[in-house]
Order: sequence, then structure tokens, then C-alpha cells
Amino acid sequence: MNRSFQPSPNVTHVTPSMTSGMAARARALRATGRTVVDLSQGQPEFDTPAFIREAAQRAIDEGATRYTATDGILPLREAMAQQANRRHQGLDEVGADEVVVTSGAKQALFNACFVLFGPGDEVLVPTPNWTSYYEIVELARAVPVPVLGDPAQQWKVDPDALRAASTPRTRGILLNSPCNPTGAVYSPGEIAAIAALARERGWWLLSDEVYRRIAYEAPASSVLDCTSDRERVVVIDAVSKSFAMTGWRLGWAVGPREVVKAMAAMQSHTTSNAAAVSQHAALAALQGGAAADGAVAEMVEALRQRRDAALQELLRHGPVEHVRPDGAFYLYVRVGSTGGVDPGAFAYDLLEREGVAVVPGAAFRTPEWIRISYGGAEADVRQGVRTIADTLHAARTAG
Ligand SMILES: Cc1ncc(COP(=O)(O)O)c(C=O)c1O
Repeated sequence: MNRSFQPSPNVTHVTPSMTSGMAARARALRATGRTVVDLSQGQPEFDTPAFIREAAQRAIDEGATRYTATDGILPLREAMAQQANRRHQGLDEVGADEVVVTSGAKQALFNACFVLFGPGDEVLVPTPNWTSYYEIVELARAVPVPVLGDPAQQWKVDPDALRAASTPRTRGILLNSPCNPTGAVYSPGEIAAIAALARERGWWLLSDEVYRRIAYEAPASSVLDCTSDRERVVVIDAVSKSFAMTGWRLGWAVGPREVVKAMAAMQSHTTSNAAAVSQHAALAALQGGAAADGAVAEMVEALRQRRDAALQELLRHGPVEHVRPDGAFYLYVRVGSTGGVDPGAFAYDLLEREGVAVVPGAAFRTPEWIRISYGGAEADVRQGVRTIADTLHAARTAG
């Protein structure tokens, strides 16, 4: 241990992501020869569609190996603006100068929070929600304010809950629909009501839409579908989840020109442009027309089958409290409260004793729950969720 290292105040509160931690422990157990079913990973287990991989290979051969403009190549920003314009309800057109290309949605979220929020600012985070929101807001030295949703409404929050949690220091909201970890999808009316509240109060609305294309019951809405006023709206998107491109690290933000400019300036001193080849791959995905739509539809259909398989296995011994997911690829399950189950230890014991990795709900500020990812192969999903159902049943029968 290096005793002379004292982390600076920038990072004293930062802990490694619990989702990455569970996946790392699963890998470590596998390395010892154990069989592990990993349902902790936040990625769909598909190959990136062939037409995207081929476009990337062509781009490398044609010289996409150098720096690009910090905010991304123009045709890509134009394609992203065009996608936003297909949805935007307002009269003003989204321009390419209102888009910044980033190394994944995570960087877009970080840069947006960093330029919008600072010391003393409070940011409302509908909870449970993706683990990194809380840490990203803290890295900006602002204060994340978890706002618990209603478990009877798929844990979604409504304007009343947000109003009740707000103070004069509230500066923004982080909305995530479809939601990680619950799979809940906000309806257009629900998004419009939250957008109206944000507008009325002058709050920034950051809408993380990385799972928007992965919805099972009805198409999931963008905030751009639901409001005509985007003066204080920043949309975060990525090709990561919908095109099975998590490793390419390619995301973007659409927002007011000044915000996007500040984000690009920040990026020019930190990471510079997103990888050139990934930008060309994303361009192929966004301009892919029928091939792209077909590839996404095929993956969503496979995920729907895995969702249904997961639900069937979960309920094999009878009712278990859970959120029925309408989007993304997560199943949120309550393990605490009844029988002899220690919710804090459940996920860790499950991995060490049964060889099934999930993410403890503490990562999402709801410790009695666990998040199961059903992005993996259907046989693994079935086996893993069956083990979870059996373990819960055994504990409750014994307790
Ligand atoms: C809600 C949400 N937003 C953003 C991200 C990060 O996406 P990316 O891999 O594009 O950085 C994730 C990844 O798990 C996520 O679940």
C-alpha cells in the first residue's frame, strides 16, 4: 500500500461502480475454474451488426485513423441532428452545432453535469436509477437528491414527488426512460408533465435515452416527442445498447448551442474526439435505414423472449415482488422483507455459493432489491433466474 497517497477532495467520495465490481468478481471466479452465470452485465450479448462492422473496416482503410474535430465529424453530427429533428415537436430545427459526439453516453452525461452543475446545486435523481448518476453529480461537486418513485408504478416518479424533493437550490433532473435498473418506460404524458415542471421551475432536464429503442409494449418516447421547448433540455444518447456497440464507446448529447459548446471545450482539454473509427461506425448505424431498423428489431425481439423466459423462471414457485419490464433488459426483483433473506448479503451470497452474478440494489439506492440483466444468452438467463427463484423460495420456506 502506498501510504503517501491521499486522494484529493475531487475523488474522496468516489467508489468503483458496483456493477463493474460484480462483473469483475464473476470473471475472477471463472478464472479459478468455477462455472458462473453472469447476469450482472449492462450489455446485450449480440455482435455488432455486420453492416456496421464492415463500414468501420472500410473507414479504417480509407484513413479514419487520425484526430477529428473535437465535437465529432460533421456528417455524424448532422445525422444525429436529423434523428432529433424527426422527433422534435418545436418549430426550431436542431442544428449540427447543437450536437457533441462523446466517448459513450457516460462521457456525455459527465460533461453535461460538469458544465451545468456546481457546488451547492442540487440535482433530482428519480430513484432507483443507474448507479453512475449519483457519482457523476458528486464529481461535479453538486448534490444528487434521490427521489424515490412509487414501487406500485414501476418505481416511476411523478411531478408531485419531484416538487416535494425540490428546494431553492434545485437546478436539474436526470430522467432515464426506459430505466436502468427497473425497465420502466415513462409514457409521453408522464414525460410531458415532468418537462412542464422543469420548464416552470427553470430546471435543466437531462434525458438519458440510451435504451429508447429497446421497448417491448409500445415505442418509448424521447423527451423531444413530448415538449416543444428545449431551451433547458439536454438529450443523451448512444449507439452502445441499441446497436450492441458498448465497446465502441460512442455517445452524444443534443442541447442548446452554448451548453454543447461548453461541453466540447471541456472535452478539448480532456479526451478530445471520440475514436474516429467509432464515429464512422455510428454514422453507418444512424444512416443504416432498413438494415439498421431490421437489426435493432431482431435484437429487441430476442430480448423480449429472454424477458419472458426470465419472468417465467422467476415466478416458478409463485409470486415474487418485481417490476415487469417494458424496456431495456433488466428485471428488478425484491429480495428483502420476507422470510430469512438478508437483502444486503443476497447478491454476494448468490455469487459465491450459487455462481450467479447480479447487481445488489444498493447500487441503485434501493438495498432490498437486486438487478438481473437478461441481455445474455437465453439458456444462461433461464438457468440463472431459476437459481435465484429457487434460492429465494428456499430461504423463505426456511425463514
Ligand atoms: C442508463 C444508462 N446511461 C448511460 C450508460 C452508459 O452508456 P455508454 O456505454 O454509452 O457510456 C448506461 C450503461 O450502462 C446506462 O445504463
